Amino acid sequence: MANNKKLVIGNWKMYPETLTEAKRDFIIFKKKRLKDNGVTTVICPPFVYLNDLNKLYSGNKIFFGAQNVFWKNEGPFTGEISPTMIKSLGVRFVIIGHSERRTLGENDEMIAQKVKASLNNDLHTVLCIGEPTRDSHGNFLRFIRDQLKNSLRGVNKNSLKKLIIAYEPIWTIGKGNRAMDSHELHQMLLYIKKQLITDYGKKIGENISIIYGGSVDSDNVHEIVYDAGVDGVLVGRNSLNPHEFAKMIEEVARKPKALKKSY
Ligand code: PGA
Repeated sequence: MANNKKLVIGNWKMYPETLTEAKRDFIIFKKKRLKDNGVTTVICPPFVYLNDLNKLYSGNKIFFGAQNVFWKNEGPFTGEISPTMIKSLGVRFVIIGHSERRTLGENDEMIAQKVKASLNNDLHTVLCIGEPTRDSHGNFLRFIRDQLKNSLRGVNKNSLKKLIIAYEPIWTIGKGNRAMDSHELHQMLLYIKKQLITDYGKKIGENISIIYGGSVDSDNVHEIVYDAGVDGVLVGRNSLNPHEFAKMIEEVARKPKALKKSY
C-alpha cells in the first residue's frame, strides 16, 4: 500500500492528556475535506485511545497505528500489548524502536523481536533508526548501518514487504530543533537504501519504503518529500494540531509539476 503513495504518519506520543481531547482533535481532523490523493494518512495515538478513535471513523482514508508492540501474541507479560491485540482493533500500522523508547531501555535485540512479530502479523511496521549526533568523521554512518542491521537481525527477508524505515536523526527531533536539510537527507536516503540492497538484495531492498522524521511541519514537508525524495514523513508534535496536520497532508498531495508519479 505504501509503495507508490506518500505516507504521512502522525505520532501523538503521550498526548493529549484525556480521551475527550483526543476525540475532539480527531473529529476536527476527520471533518477536513483533504485533497489527499496519493497520500496515505496514519494516526498513531496512545494505545488507550486507539479503539475509541477507530470507532469514530468509518472511511477508508485514515489508518491507525500503535506506537509500540510486544513480541509475543499472548502470555504472562504484564503491561504489554501484542500484535494480535492491535490487529483485532483494525489497526494496521505499528511504530517500533522510536528513539524515545530506546532511551527508556529498548535495545536492538528487543526491537528486532518486535519487528519480527509485527511483520509476521502482517502489520505495516515502521522501524525507527537515527543517530544521536553528527560528527565530521562519518561515524554516524556506521552507527546507522549497525542499528539497521541489528534491529532487523533474524527477521526473514521474505517478510519485509510491509517494512517501512523511519530515519529520524535524534538531533532533529523535538522542540528547539530543526528538520534536516533536504540535500543531506537525500544522501542519507541513498545510504540507507544501499544498506538495504546490500543486506537483502535489489528486489527486496529497493522496495522498502524510507520515510523521514524530525521537526517536520507544513512549511518544510513538501521540500522534504519531493526534494529529498523520501517516501513520506513521521510527524511528532505538529501532528497534534489537526489543522497543521491536515495542512501537511495537503502539501504532500500537491505534487511537484515535473513528477508524474510519486517516488
Ligand atoms: P517531532 O518528533 O516531529 O516533534 O520532531 C518526531 C518524532 O519523534 O517522531
